[in-house]
Amino acid sequence: MLLSRHCIDEAATESLGTAIAQAMRQAGLPPLLLTLQGDLGAGKTTLVRSILRALGVRGRIKSPSYALLESYSIDGFGLELKQSVGLTVYHIDLYRFSSPDEWLDAGLGEALGGQALCLVEWPEHAAGLPPADLQLHIAPADPGRMVTMRAGTAAGEGLIDTLRSAQADA
Ligand SMILES: Nc1ncnc2c1ncn2[C@@H]1O[C@H](COP(=O)(O)OP(=O)(O)OP(=O)(O)O)[C@@H](O)[C@H]1O
Ligand SMILES: [Mg+2]
Repeated sequence: MLLSRHCIDEAATESLGTAIAQAMRQAGLPPLLLTLQGDLGAGKTTLVRSILRALGVRGRIKSPSYALLESYSIDGFGLELKQSVGLTVYHIDLYRFSSPDEWLDAGLGEALGGQALCLVEWPEHAAGLPPADLQLHIAPADPGRMVTMRAGTAAGEGLIDTLRSAQADA
């Protein structure tokens, strides 16, 4: 299942991030794996930042280009659930990895296989990652960028369905 969005400028990329975060909230903030592919400067971090902001992360959201991993904790504020929900979020950048199983050597297996929301830039620098719920590809478009989302699981299909109906309502 595929959905493409033409984001004509940075603000449009950020609106898409907000819509993705809303779809996640609507699904009850489940643990998910999202991968983001695209050249250097495509807008992967921009999109992740806007998702995290819309999920309620405050303060500086650094690119994990050097640290490899930044972690956050978000709560279920605003969710219509009976009990409170907390979710750990990992923003990971694998660009600096040169061998396919370095992510396991670096101890990321637990983060990626666990109960967290994981947003991974440069997943193509790793082999054997768990299946992504949503694969995002960002390509240059004139103007802006074309963002293509591909669902890899039922959870990912649910997100795409929600994004489609939000678009239809808009
Ligand atoms: N839809 C858009 N149209 C034009 N420019 C955009 C759009 N979305 C993001 N940008 C710009 O593109 C750049 C993207 O930088 P960003 O750090 O997000 O890229 P990245 O894909 O994470 O790169 P890296 O692989 O180095 O981590 C920023 O300067 C941002 O303003
Ligand atoms: Mg980046």
